[in-house]
Amino acid sequence: MLSQTTFLSLLLSFATSRLACADRYHPESATRSGGVTFNSKPAELTAQYWSDEAQAAIRARKARLRDAAAAPTARNVVMFLGDGMSVTTLAAARTLLGQRQGRPGEESLLAFETFPTVGLTKTYCVDAQIADSACSATAYLCGAKANRGTLGLTAAVPRRDCAAAADPAAQLDSIAAWALADGRDAGIVTTTRVTHASPAAAYARAANRNWENDASVRSNNQDPNICLDIAQQLVHSYPGNQFKVILGGGRREFIPTSTIDEEGTPGRRTDGRNLIEEWQIDKIARNATYQYVWNRSQLTSLAQNTPEYILGLFEGSHLQYNLQSDSASEPTLTELTEVAIRSLSRNNKGFFLFVEGGRIDHAHHANRPQLALDETLEMSAAVARAAELLSEDDSLIVVTADHAHVMTLNGYSPRGTDILGPSNDRDEAGVPYMTLSYTNGPGFRSHLNDTRPDVTTESNFRAINWRSHVDVPLESETHGGEDVAVFARGPQHAMFAGLYEQSQLPHLMAYAACIGPGLHACSAATRHFTILPLLLIPFLLYKLLRCIRCDDSRSLFIFL
Ligand SMILES: *[C@@H]1O[C@H](CO)[C@@H](O)[C@H](O)[C@H]1NC(C)=O
Ligand SMILES: *[C@@H]1O[C@H](CO)[C@@H](O)[C@H](O)[C@H]1NC(C)=O
Ligand SMILES: *[C@@H]1O[C@H](CO)[C@@H](O)[C@H](O)[C@H]1NC(C)=O
Ligand SMILES: [Zn+2]
Repeated sequence: MLSQTTFLSLLLSFATSRLACADRYHPESATRSGGVTFNSKPAELTAQYWSDEAQAAIRARKARLRDAAAAPTARNVVMFLGDGMSVTTLAAARTLLGQRQGRPGEESLLAFETFPTVGLTKTYCVDAQIADSACSATAYLCGAKANRGTLGLTAAVPRRDCAAAADPAAQLDSIAAWALADGRDAGIVTTTRVTHASPAAAYARAANRNWENDASVRSNNQDPNICLDIAQQLVHSYPGNQFKVILGGGRREFIPTSTIDEEGTPGRRTDGRNLIEEWQIDKIARNATYQYVWNRSQLTSLAQNTPEYILGLFEGSHLQYNLQSDSASEPTLTELTEVAIRSLSRNNKGFFLFVEGGRIDHAHHANRPQLALDETLEMSAAVARAAELLSEDDSLIVVTADHAHVMTLNGYSPRGTDILGPSNDRDEAGVPYMTLSYTNGPGFRSHLNDTRPDVTTESNFRAINWRSHVDVPLESETHGGEDVAVFARGPQHAMFAGLYEQSQLPHLMAYAACIGPGLHACSAATRHFTILPLLLIPFLLYKLLRCIRCDDSRSLFIFL
């Protein structure tokens, strides 16, 4: 039974909490009511500041619309893909960017957030409400939605069905193949294994994204001589065998189990083949200049005098997270992107380049927001470099994500609050909670006496590998099903506005670049001229009728 005093104090606290809640959905807190609590520019307190900001943006947009009209087609297309780069990730990453520069942060912009056009894509797959990186990569690189876990194949192919994948009618071509067919060059850059799902859709057809080597095909009881593994397709099949630039990680998928790579990782192939050697032999057979590199200094020395073909594999598996990498041995995504653009730019007809910031996704799966945001900032830096190297007049840059994640940016913290720290608020038991947390994943902590533990007292709190807290315990945090953003700059950028299916992206890029099947911006421009003969028809009819009436067979003959 409750004692009388406990009952009275409960009643009192209930009454005061009711008083504090003018709006029960948005409780008022003392820390939020006292005006500006951060060290902001005083200018932000005036209407003039925000008006000037808006007017500058309108002037910039008008200028860009004029430029876009003058440059209707793209010679080069660079597609940047932030794996798992949800809209929440963008808002948190831009805040971290500003805070690293000593500002409140929320007012910052990532490099691609300054692009003139933004759209949204729906990321679901044919058999999945929430996408994985394989079916979504098939959508944004091959232009058709597919089944979860499959690459470069229509949804007629169920996952792991090797026989169904052998049907030519089910096999898709990627925008990289469309570019090659037009005489342009193509390449891929990623911070994951080059055989991982996202880059693989640019060159492989696989009924299972995990078929990165022959052993994994066999482990699904399929024949690797019928369903070639992804590494073998990259080296020997079209279009991967034509790529001028292949940069990322994943050496283990290319070498046999009996071989140890340059940094001590054993291979995973059970067919005894060394595909890194086979790639080089193939280039020798073509009389082409080529170079295989496995560390940063080799890549840097290449940058001065790039061979025709570059294969760079900088790790046995994925590249390290930027915050944890050894800068002596591993290049940054920006360095990789720059080498790729310089190499591909030698083709006067243009190129298609795919660049992936692939580990944003991995950090989210581990509930590690600091790593996820830092990887996002690394991709932003790579986009900034690409935008410096390529002209807006002839190069389309598209930046998007494959799917979202379940990280949330929550609470009511004041402006400028540390984005990686706790909210200024507390839960109902008075325990702090993080501004960035997840609905599920490995960061689950058991509750004690129905109370959440205080994560801010943990010994590794805020360390790079610290996990934020979650609601549902899972070994790996899941993807999110909401829409992802698309940012576009360069020829036809306005075509990327609106909300549309993710599978429209390669068709839109192909439209701007005048490659591949379907509508092209350049033929749309010539359509004005095809109207001219049509305008002559009434005139010709008039002349024809006149000729019949005047029975002038000679002029009738001329018109026929
Ligand atoms: C490569 O060069 C050699 C010698 O110059 C020549 O005989 C051969 O036909 C060339 N091969 C190709 C594929 O161009
Ligand atoms: C990079 O590779 C070259 C060639 O194998 C080697 O000589 C050099 O020591 C390597 N550098 C590092 C930092 O591992
Ligand atoms: C749980 O609550 C009980 C009863 O209030 C208390 O005796 C005990 O110390 C609490 N345990 C912890 C771990 O806080
Ligand atoms: Zn993922």
